[in-house]
Amino acid sequence: MLGSGFISDFYCSAIQGQRSKDKVIIAASRSEDKVKDFAERNHIPEWTTSLDEAINHPEVEIVCVGLPNFLHKEVILKAAKAGKGVICTKPLGRNAEEAYEMLKAVEDAGVFHGYMEDLVYTPKTLRTIESIQQGAVGKVLWARSRETHPGPHSEWFWDKEQAGGGAILDLACHCIEIARSFIGKEQKPIEVMCWADTQVKPIEAEDHAIGLVKYANGAIGQFEVSWAFRGGLDLRDEVMGTHGTVWLNHFLRTGFDMFTAPGQSGYVAEKAESDSGWIFPVGDENQDLGYNHMFNDMFTAYEKGIQPQETFYDGYVVNAIMDAAYASVKSKKWEPVVLKDWRGLPEGAESTAVLEDYDDQHYLIKEEILPGGKKKIILKDKTSGRISEHSV
Ligand SMILES: NC(=O)c1ccc[n+]([C@@H]2O[C@H](COP(=O)([O-])OP(=O)(O)OC[C@H]3O[C@@H](n4cnc5c(N)ncnc54)[C@H](O)[C@@H]3O)[C@@H](O)[C@H]2O)c1
Repeated sequence: MLGSGFISDFYCSAIQGQRSKDKVIIAASRSEDKVKDFAERNHIPEWTTSLDEAINHPEVEIVCVGLPNFLHKEVILKAAKAGKGVICTKPLGRNAEEAYEMLKAVEDAGVFHGYMEDLVYTPKTLRTIESIQQGAVGKVLWARSRETHPGPHSEWFWDKEQAGGGAILDLACHCIEIARSFIGKEQKPIEVMCWADTQVKPIEAEDHAIGLVKYANGAIGQFEVSWAFRGGLDLRDEVMGTHGTVWLNHFLRTGFDMFTAPGQSGYVAEKAESDSGWIFPVGDENQDLGYNHMFNDMFTAYEKGIQPQETFYDGYVVNAIMDAAYASVKSKKWEPVVLKDWRGLPEGAESTAVLEDYDDQHYLIKEEILPGGKKKIILKDKTSGRISEHSV
């Protein structure tokens, strides 16, 4: 486990929780006091302040990267060189160029690699992906994903150079991969339009952004991210398809609301702003945020010698989309997603137009039961193009 901070604690408790057979063998991070404490807290037998020592530890099969963004590339290149499998937290790189270098390194070395995008592994998201693949909502036209909170917990996030960006790089990576998973990861992302600004925080990077990602089949992925949101961690997704809709709420207002006058003292849930009054605890964060299912997929894939649901290739595509978002913020125009290595369907393989036949002569535009019980049907003539309405 490289890193002993916020995410590494979640990773350790998910990997070793629930009587798991998976074990964290050694933890490594910068400060001796903190890594020692982290190792004790998570029952990890060895700890070190040397990242190299942990990567090259003879018993380590997989290196789990929970370090700040600016360190991902360095340790991943080292892990690949050492012939170790490697799983990395989000975002994979600070930009697509870094991400591609990491992808090439693990592929050239032939080692196992996984991109730890936990939010596509939440039970609700996994179930939604399955339902979509079974045709439950028809063709996905619009997938909207929001992650907003009052800002991250460590200094390096707020430094544009070390983090690589602001709220887009930190949060839109989640939203983009969630939308890709709903729209279909085989669909090529074509272009991005994005607004971003620094509305509140005294930083160089953006603290708020909204973006649209257009896919080859015409579907739109929308991300809404902020480090300036007040009220906790808002994680919501929506899918609109030709034949159905899904609304997901992962964190606030999930059906578990508690009122506590004295306060429940201490941690309530990630980024919670208050521990008294009305609070919104989470039943099991490891489960509800996808960590359990994510490690299950990663390690099962590793044992079977197959790819997990999320690989470094996915991390690279997400970085390329975020690069286009940053370009769009500057130019105020749609900017192309530059992918020098595209592995999905060719552009134009599927069109957006969804025409529903009513009869040989007409397409159906709309049918509705009106007050009073009559049904109205709106049709388009296939030859003349004329639109007409009929009561039934
Ligand atoms: N849901 C998620 O997937 C999720 C959530 C939070 C963070 N993250 C990601 O996890 C990564 C780490 O974030 P975090 O929140 O745990 O940060 P953090 O600041 O809480 O922890 C960072 C850790 O890295 C160590 N570290 C920093 N600089 C180092 C150096 N030069 N050498 C060795 N160790 C060093 C620190 O000691 C600390 O243990 C980031 O890439 C972040 O984007 C992912």
